[in-house]
Amino acid sequence: MPEFPTKVYVEGRVKFLAPALPEGWEKALSPSGMPVFFNPHSKLSRDMAVLAVGTYFQGRAVRACEPLAGCGVRGIRLAVETNVVSRLVLNDINKFAYSLIKENVDMAGLTDIVEVYNMDANALLAAHSTHKLRFDYVDVDPAGSPAPFLENAIRACRSGGLIGVTATDLAPLCGRNPQSCIRKYDAVPYASPYSKETAARILVGFVARTAARVGMGVSPLLTFYRRHYVRTFVSVRYSKTLAKDSLKNVGWMFHCESCGSVQWSSYTEPFTVCNVCRSIPHAFGPLWLGELASRDFVLRAMGRAYETDMKEAYGLLRKISEEVQHVPFYYRVDEMGRRLRSTVPKPIRVVEKLRSMGFRASLTHFDGQGFKTDAPRKVVEQVFSELVSASYPRP
Ligand SMILES: C[S@@+](CC[C@H](N)C(=O)[O-])C[C@H]1O[C@@H](n2cnc3c(N)ncnc32)[C@H](O)[C@@H]1O
Ligand SMILES: [Zn+2]
Repeated sequence: MPEFPTKVYVEGRVKFLAPALPEGWEKALSPSGMPVFFNPHSKLSRDMAVLAVGTYFQGRAVRACEPLAGCGVRGIRLAVETNVVSRLVLNDINKFAYSLIKENVDMAGLTDIVEVYNMDANALLAAHSTHKLRFDYVDVDPAGSPAPFLENAIRACRSGGLIGVTATDLAPLCGRNPQSCIRKYDAVPYASPYSKETAARILVGFVARTAARVGMGVSPLLTFYRRHYVRTFVSVRYSKTLAKDSLKNVGWMFHCESCGSVQWSSYTEPFTVCNVCRSIPHAFGPLWLGELASRDFVLRAMGRAYETDMKEAYGLLRKISEEVQHVPFYYRVDEMGRRLRSTVPKPIRVVEKLRSMGFRASLTHFDGQGFKTDAPRKVVEQVFSELVSASYPRP
């Protein structure tokens, strides 16, 4: 038994032990500073893993692995709540976490199907990278960047399997610490009003490039941003052709600081001047330019969220299901208002107006102030100004 105060928590359909957190713990403690990592605020991330695994593998028997398991709640929830996990490997390098995982597995009555290890995650994953030992699902959920574990996680996943990846290092990914992003993701970030989507796209692009290196293609099925992290679920398949096809979705973005327009190009054909005003734009990437989610998959996961009463996950999935997917950035109404020196309409009013004009437009889960559209920037600015003057007519 670890020598620190624990308490019984309930999350989803699972009872488990984790460090006892005093009231208002966020002000005094970070989950990484605890004897065993546990963040109650990551419940949504775990709910989404339960939904993604249950949806993807419905009716199949799955070998799952959580190489960075903390107290084990994520993997245990997968085993208890999805009805598809036939074998589960849980691991953490921290010896207190290892003991707690074993207790939690016992408490959940899962000792027959779970193996628990106290190893370095890369060593564990590398030991499972040969054909017969690979997993169907690998969940990479570190405190910080998944970059050090990603290639081994992909190698440990069988063709046709699924990988869940979290990144909590939003400062580098959102462009507030560019050197750190270059070091970890081999990508140049950009601090912009739409940087939360850029963060997700750098992560997915990095997953695709890492998979391509080992001969695998990827399809992102669900990607989201929440609070302190971005997370993606991608299916992976061994095929050099698919790997090359995946890389066709990776490219560069360009933000023109003179006229405000945002453009993008393929990996192999970056451009150097703004299409609109011929200034030299700011280039960033490489990042994923394709769809971040499969609408069909998201709708099926949404159905499960409804059936199991996961309200927060349901709301998030509904927003994602409605998002314009093929435009890799969003506008923020407050930033446009500042640029146009005007007041600010609600994002939904801009979306409705653009749709009434025949453009595709949606709100975005990345940002409550944001909206996405395929309308040209000039049209967006015109709609914005019309809505503002209709609400505040000149005397
Ligand atoms: C964010 S926590 C995991 C949280 C857990 N997935 C959950 O949903 O509650 C990351 C865990 O990775 C463990 N860890 C860090 N580096 C590791 C390594 N090289 N190998 C194995 N575990 C490691 C830490 O001890 C920590 O428990
Ligand atoms: Zn321009």
